[in-house]
Amino acid sequence: MFRTSKQEILADFGFDRDPFKKTFVESTDYKRINKVVGMAVNDRAMVAVVGERGIGKSYAVRSTLRTINDVRLVCPLANDINKLLIGDIEQALILDLGNEKPKRGREIRARQLRRILGEASTRKAVVLVIEEAHHLHGLTLRSLKRIREMEWMGNAELLSIILVGQSDPLNKPGVSEVRLRADSIHMRGLSQKEICAFIGHSTGQVFDQKAVNVISRLPNAHNYEDLKTILFQLMEHALFSGRKTVTVDDIKSVFADLDLKEIYREAGIETSLKRAGKKEKKAIEKDSTVQLSGFLKNCQTDGSDVSQKVVNG
Ligand SMILES: Nc1ncnc2c1ncn2[C@@H]1O[C@H](COP(=O)(O)OP(=O)(O)OP(=O)(O)O)[C@@H](O)[C@H]1O
Ligand SMILES: [Mg+2]
Repeated sequence: MFRTSKQEILADFGFDRDPFKKTFVESTDYKRINKVVGMAVNDRAMVAVVGERGIGKSYAVRSTLRTINDVRLVCPLANDINKLLIGDIEQALILDLGNEKPKRGREIRARQLRRILGEASTRKAVVLVIEEAHHLHGLTLRSLKRIREMEWMGNAELLSIILVGQSDPLNKPGVSEVRLRADSIHMRGLSQKEICAFIGHSTGQVFDQKAVNVISRLPNAHNYEDLKTILFQLMEHALFSGRKTVTVDDIKSVFADLDLKEIYREAGIETSLKRAGKKEKKAIEKDSTVQLSGFLKNCQTDGSDVSQKVVNG
């Protein structure tokens, strides 16, 4: 899709490292995950974090867990996630928590797991995180429920389970017993203001205010990965046009196939240019490279002030 590599595009705009990697948005979604995962850890609950690819599920779950003290995290590493079976998950728990060789034989291993899990849970909150959980088989989900409900020395519910997936694993047929005892949280993506904040704190100096305003309204901009692709496409187009600033003209060319009339109207593009006389038009063009604070202020708001909560590390 890109004629130039992303690193080259960034370098041509004067970046010496990927500006997206050090940008953090404390979005509404992020705060929701923070709350729900925190409660799941406290209550030893099972929760599914659901959202389309690239929307920030893993990032939100991992950052949240890093902020909680005394957590013992277990993440199965088997890389063929389509074939992740309960046996692999049991082995991961035994290896990470007990540092013992998993025993062979289902019954003896279940007892080994119960002892190790029981002892570990008295020291720290044990949290099992399973990525790509939409691939899990119904039988595996039902076995997970049984592991969570294991009892050891009078204590039940020995661990929390966080399932991270692109569709809700708890909506699979045949797992109603799991669904009844678990919770799901669906990520919605970035709001317009959060999109403006993300752009502002990563590549803000490269985009003019009107362009940011339009980008924040584009169909897939609510998704981090899609948003980054949009930004790269526009930066590449600006470079090929011999500019170091991305403007609405780049959006019009790159997304010429999309009907964005309504979006331009909402962002006040046509009206401001049509009404402006020659002098004003010149002033608009001159003004087009605005400072970050300026365009964050001018972005359409959705009520929450994220500009204070974006960290550019
Ligand atoms: N709160 C955030 N602030 C800034 N960047 C973020 C934030 N959340 C996620 N990102 C960035 O967005 C990208 C996608 O995030 P992540 O990998 O968490 O998505 P995902 O929903 O887990 O996707 P997948 O389903 O493909 O695993 C990552 O590069 C990450 O750095
Ligand atoms: Mg992920």
